[in-house]
Amino acid sequence: MNLLPERKNMRRLVSALIAGTAVIWLATPRHSAAEEKKAKTELHKQMEQIDTGMKKLRRTLRKKESNPESLEWISKIEQAAIISKQMTPSRAATLPADQQPQFVVAYRKRMAQLVGEMLKMETALLDDDNAKAQDVFKELKTIEEDGHDKFMQDDEKDSPKPDEKK
Ligand code: HEM
Repeated sequence: MNLLPERKNMRRLVSALIAGTAVIWLATPRHSAAEEKKAKTELHKQMEQIDTGMKKLRRTLRKKESNPESLEWISKIEQAAIISKQMTPSRAATLPADQQPQFVVAYRKRMAQLVGEMLKMETALLDDDNAKAQDVFKELKTIEEDGHDKFMQDDEKDSPKPDEKK
């Protein structure tokens, strides 16, 4: 019996399989480390808007000439904060079901307080009272720290940038 043609076929089959695997491997998109990072939640994105505004305000609140610009940033933060207030932090899902409702209520109350402080800052600036607006800014940083301690999951936290002052 001649086994040669069968071996030839087997070899062809193996080569085809190797080639096929290589093509699939090459066609599969590679992801960078950043892309593989957990997708950002909607709340995370809104919080980033608040963060951008707060970073601008840290400087603009110092000058009365910048009050129109500050008022623009305050409006943007207020809008993002109102949207965030209705959302549920991802940490809620990690808690036992019976603790989740009170967690969400506590979160919402803290966010409502944040909105209230933003409105105070707005009123201060409309009165051209920049010193008062800067006091409110400090209060907001305390509310932020406390809010993150209580309501944020560790894996939501971005690593702090070296030039970042809290
Ligand atoms: C001026 C005030 C605030 C700023 C600038 C701010 C900023 C941010 C930023 C930049 C993130 C993204 C993660 C990170 O970079 O660490 C974040 C996430 C988050 N923040 Fe805030 N935040 C503020 C206030 C608050 C308050 C008062 C609360 C709670 C009542 C809160 C709850 C959260 C939660 C729960 C997340 C994670 C998102 C998720 O669970 O899906 N934040 N915040």
